[in-house]
Amino acid sequence: MELERHAYDVVVVGAGGAGLRAAIAAHEAGARTAVVCKSLLGKAHTVMAEGGIAAAMGNAYPEDNWRVHFRDTMRGGKMLNSWRMAQLHAQEAPDRVRELEDWGALFDRTPDGLISQRDFGGHRYARLAHVGDRTGLELIRTLQQRSVALGVDVYMECTVTRLLTDEDGITGAFGYWRESGRFLAWEAPSVVLATGGIGKSYKVTSNSWEYTGDGHSLALQAGASLVNMEFVQFHPTGMVWPPSVRGILVTESVRGDGGVLKNSSGNRFMFDYIPDFFRKETAETEDEADRWYTDKKNNRRPPELLPRDEVARAINSEVKAGRGSPHGGVFLDIASRRPAEYVRKRLPSMYHQFKELADVDITAEAMEVGPTCHYVMGGVEVDPDTAAAGVPGLFAAGEVAGGMHGSNRLGGNSLSDLLVFGRRAGVAAAEHAQKRAGLVALAEEALADAARAALAPFERDGGENAYAVQLELQQTMHDLVGIIRTAPEMERALERIAALKERVAALSVEGHRQYNPGWHLALDLPHMLLVSECVARAALAREESRGGHTRDDFPATDPDWGRTNLACERAPDGTVHLARQPLPDMPPELAEIFEEGP
Ligand code: FUM
Repeated sequence: MELERHAYDVVVVGAGGAGLRAAIAAHEAGARTAVVCKSLLGKAHTVMAEGGIAAAMGNAYPEDNWRVHFRDTMRGGKMLNSWRMAQLHAQEAPDRVRELEDWGALFDRTPDGLISQRDFGGHRYARLAHVGDRTGLELIRTLQQRSVALGVDVYMECTVTRLLTDEDGITGAFGYWRESGRFLAWEAPSVVLATGGIGKSYKVTSNSWEYTGDGHSLALQAGASLVNMEFVQFHPTGMVWPPSVRGILVTESVRGDGGVLKNSSGNRFMFDYIPDFFRKETAETEDEADRWYTDKKNNRRPPELLPRDEVARAINSEVKAGRGSPHGGVFLDIASRRPAEYVRKRLPSMYHQFKELADVDITAEAMEVGPTCHYVMGGVEVDPDTAAAGVPGLFAAGEVAGGMHGSNRLGGNSLSDLLVFGRRAGVAAAEHAQKRAGLVALAEEALADAARAALAPFERDGGENAYAVQLELQQTMHDLVGIIRTAPEMERALERIAALKERVAALSVEGHRQYNPGWHLALDLPHMLLVSECVARAALAREESRGGHTRDDFPATDPDWGRTNLACERAPDGTVHLARQPLPDMPPELAEIFEEGP
């Protein structure tokens, strides 16, 4: 077998924000570090976090601080979050933003010259540090420039198909160059997974082709567990028209900067979906309610800025009730609320996106939007302080890691999450590698086995096309394990997934190994199916509604389930098992934060 071999202390899989931040930290800690990514460097879902980085810097509201950010994050996650992760995240996010600025990120400013911070759903104060509506892009640009300047090795357009382990933990990873199809292996005592999410298992998604749940699946297969997999975030606003762009993100900044949601009758329907505990006034008119809810001095927020799960469900209900827009969404209107100049300055990408892709001028007309699968709260179960997974030498950060966001993530918390835990993962991975220096080696039989598995689709004849299976999986997850779920539908989804697994085992691929997208998809599909099974199994088991998991047959939130996490583990025969885990108790000094404010 022809095989390119490399040796590092730390191999980071994924080059989004978490991967790059981990690589920088590992390199700075003295580790020989490599980043491996499926795509070109810089092309990552991180850029889809457009509106900003959530960090309690207090630039817009001096009274903001980490305690309020911690409380907002836990409440947004409906208290299922790992409290320790939420604490570290809220405490460290401001430093991570300032550090980005030191490294060259150009944030928008307040009139006083401070980093500007904007409103987002579920955050009590305006706290998203931003660069127009291109914050994720600027974050990636900055981290990319820094890692290249430091001399971190980068393997671009390279897919990892297997993690390699021995009885003591990680020994490295195996993969292939997408262009040539040639194999390569990295010997390394530490691997950091930063592969992002699973969105490509759904039909309508803001995720691009790379997000097939590889890291979730690789971790599970290596012996780690996944938590909170039932919680999938549908961002309330994706494009719905034309069909070729369905699912592309429409940043929450449109609502953060004053945009409102309307149904086909022109009503601001979100006023009808304000939870009772939050509803403060019965106003006679929409204008009166608008004035009351947008009173910033009293820290009030318009209902369009409720947490994402609540807004997505409201849009879903309006469309189902026949009050949707012509193409099955609702209307998002900033044109009648803000001057054209303001919109073009604050939301330049949205202005261009709608102009170029939908021929809509958002300074003059409303946009048509609807929910799109954007983020998975579930992921690899990690130690909050070190990002270490259950397999020695394996670490996970960013979207592929679970726990931080509980049942629902607040917008803007993804960028701060990946900076905080990317850094922590890189530091801990470098430390682990130092302890294991000289003690790991790649087993020849494991390499041969990984190569055999990767080539198997070429050995089979007459099997069906990988794209047909992918379409069926996406339709299944969309129809049966989407925003609103029921037991019979999820049971049907699990049956279909089992049947799709058998079909994938018989898939065949035409042609040769040089740039062969059908082969690439054939290797991605087992990951997509394994991860989809975890989502469906966990969602079927959780008999309540909470955050990004709504059961039509169990509409209430159940306090008992509020103390329980579900973890997916993989048995030696390849089946997925669920374990119920009690949530760790929150220490009194954190619990008292919930008494401090509304
Ligand atoms: O709407 C947005 O700009 C997305 C942000 C996020 O997912 O954090």
